[in-house]
Amino acid sequence: MLKISTDRLIIRDHIEKDLYPMHELLSNRKEMYYLPELRTNSITGTNENLQVAINESKTNKRSKFFFAITDKYTGDYIGEIGFIRTNRSIFGDIMELGYFIKEIYWGKGIVTEASKSIMSYAFNNWNTRKVVTGCVVENKASEGIMKKLGMIKEAELKNHVVLHNKLHDRVEYRILKEEWGELYKDNNTIGDRFS
Ligand SMILES: CC(C)(COP(=O)(O)OP(=O)(O)OC[C@H]1O[C@@H](n2cnc3c(N)ncnc32)[C@H](O)[C@@H]1OP(=O)(O)O)[C@@H](O)C(=O)NCCC(=O)NCCS
Repeated sequence: MLKISTDRLIIRDHIEKDLYPMHELLSNRKEMYYLPELRTNSITGTNENLQVAINESKTNKRSKFFFAITDKYTGDYIGEIGFIRTNRSIFGDIMELGYFIKEIYWGKGIVTEASKSIMSYAFNNWNTRKVVTGCVVENKASEGIMKKLGMIKEAELKNHVVLHNKLHDRVEYRILKEEWGELYKDNNTIGDRFS
């Protein structure tokens, strides 16, 4: 099982015991407001997602990397983070980052901390040339993470997303492997605590 340790968190592959806390999150309207396509209405629906995550974690030809974020000291389930390989080439791959956590943990820098470590994991272990992510412009907390990570805005897409029956603009950010290396070259604590 993959386990990444940060100052406050363990980011790990999923286990069957994640089902109920994961369902609390995936079925919550407020927490999933910006991700309606991932919201589930039943424990069966959440279990389908969990099984995809568990099965992917066991294959060598992995293209989806979905991890549980947990509290390092209590083991409590906090939320989800991961990336999907959206492009593969001889020059390296493009990975799309995504995240969502329970509301009681918002605003504590948790997703910024988790994103740093899993992006480092992606660059160091999966032939990643570029990590991308994006959100609707109203989701300031999500865009805040992209900025705090040092990602670079690549696009502002007008009227791009239909969310809850309204059109929204979307912003997209990137970071290339060499940009990441330059940014975090003095931080030798990132990327070397995988097991
Ligand atoms: C978006 C989300 C993942 C943010 O996680 P988080 O751990 O609370 O984020 P962080 O605490 O690392 O905050 C990152 C930055 O966002 C900014 N930020 C946070 N909330 C903000 C707000 N309401 N308005 C403006 N900026 C905000 C801050 O700059 C913060 O940096 P700071 O620590 O210097 O204040 C979390 O709110 C969440 O799970 N939301 C629901 C699901 C979701 O929207 N997922 C993303 C879909 S694209």
